[in-house]
Amino acid sequence: MRSELLTPTRLGDFELAPLGMGTAKLGAFWQKRSIKEGEEALNRALDMGLGLIDTADVYARGISERIVGRAIKHRDNVAVMTKVGLLKTPRGIISARKHVGQVGLQGLKAATTASTCFAPGYVESAALDCMRRQGRDELDILLLHEPKASDFEQTALLEQLNSMQERGMIKAWGASVRSQEDALAAVLAPGLSWLQVPVNLGNTTIADNLLPLKKDVTLVGLAVLGDGSLLPRVTAGGLNRPKAVAALVEGAYRHPAIDAVLLGMSRPAHVTENLAALERGVSEADLKSVQKLLES
Ligand SMILES: NC(=O)c1ccc[n+]([C@@H]2O[C@H](COP(=O)([O-])OP(=O)(O)OC[C@H]3O[C@@H](n4cnc5c(N)ncnc54)[C@H](OP(=O)(O)O)[C@@H]3O)[C@@H](O)[C@H]2O)c1
Repeated sequence: MRSELLTPTRLGDFELAPLGMGTAKLGAFWQKRSIKEGEEALNRALDMGLGLIDTADVYARGISERIVGRAIKHRDNVAVMTKVGLLKTPRGIISARKHVGQVGLQGLKAATTASTCFAPGYVESAALDCMRRQGRDELDILLLHEPKASDFEQTALLEQLNSMQERGMIKAWGASVRSQEDALAAVLAPGLSWLQVPVNLGNTTIADNLLPLKKDVTLVGLAVLGDGSLLPRVTAGGLNRPKAVAALVEGAYRHPAIDAVLLGMSRPAHVTENLAALERGVSEADLKSVQKLLES
């Protein structure tokens, strides 16, 4: 049976398929991905019915956002999650310094150390840069990129994000976090309505702990293939590659706390084979065998 990941459903204020396209590697030519290939991968995913897209100001140093902006220009039924605050590019670092001076950014080495900046003024100016790169005058979902639990204690930051939403600059806001401690602080932040957390069939701890707390927050699972690293383990267990991807994605989505799942795809062939496998559906036997394999 066709996976429900391909059928539009309510996600916050949007009606979209819950399989989201991760664009971290789109156009990253230093990782041997061309812009043309990235554009083709994203357009193919959109043509095949996906509409939830995840990007960030630092992905491929802004190239990902530009590709996303061009691809969605004349499309409806799309929502873009855009992340700011992770300082990986010289432009981001210079801009952050204007807002916080050297304090808190001491020792930062341009483009090599991924520090973060969530000063309220910086977050708004970074969001404006995202709009410019994407060619849009409003962002759908603005996410803080890997904030720590302590960042959610900054009342001024939360007020800034809620004010940006009230002013129509962003439709919603949230965060993308890595650890359980940060996720538990984020989910309780007043106004936050989207949260990205790592989840995979072998490790659902963060999602398990968020389940009783999440209420009106749309929870998005990421790194469901462990950035590709889980695939060889699963294929070695006997499943072919598209079936293995489909089982890993489906398994993460079936977690009761998870509302949507991101799948990073920068190769058009991966889009085609992954979506075809989800069209065919995932058998219970495949799901069980993958779960057993990852838990062992
Ligand atoms: N903290 C954060 O904010 C954060 C952290 C991580 C991820 N993310 C977001 O979540 C998205 C997904 O996470 P992720 O990139 O860590 O990992 P992922 O979705 O677990 O894995 C993506 C990797 O799997 C590969 N892949 C996909 N389908 C495949 C197939 N059929 N055969 C072989 N390989 C396949 C992709 O290759 P190709 O690229 O070559 O197609 C990519 O390298 C990212 O793109 C990003 O948007 C956010």
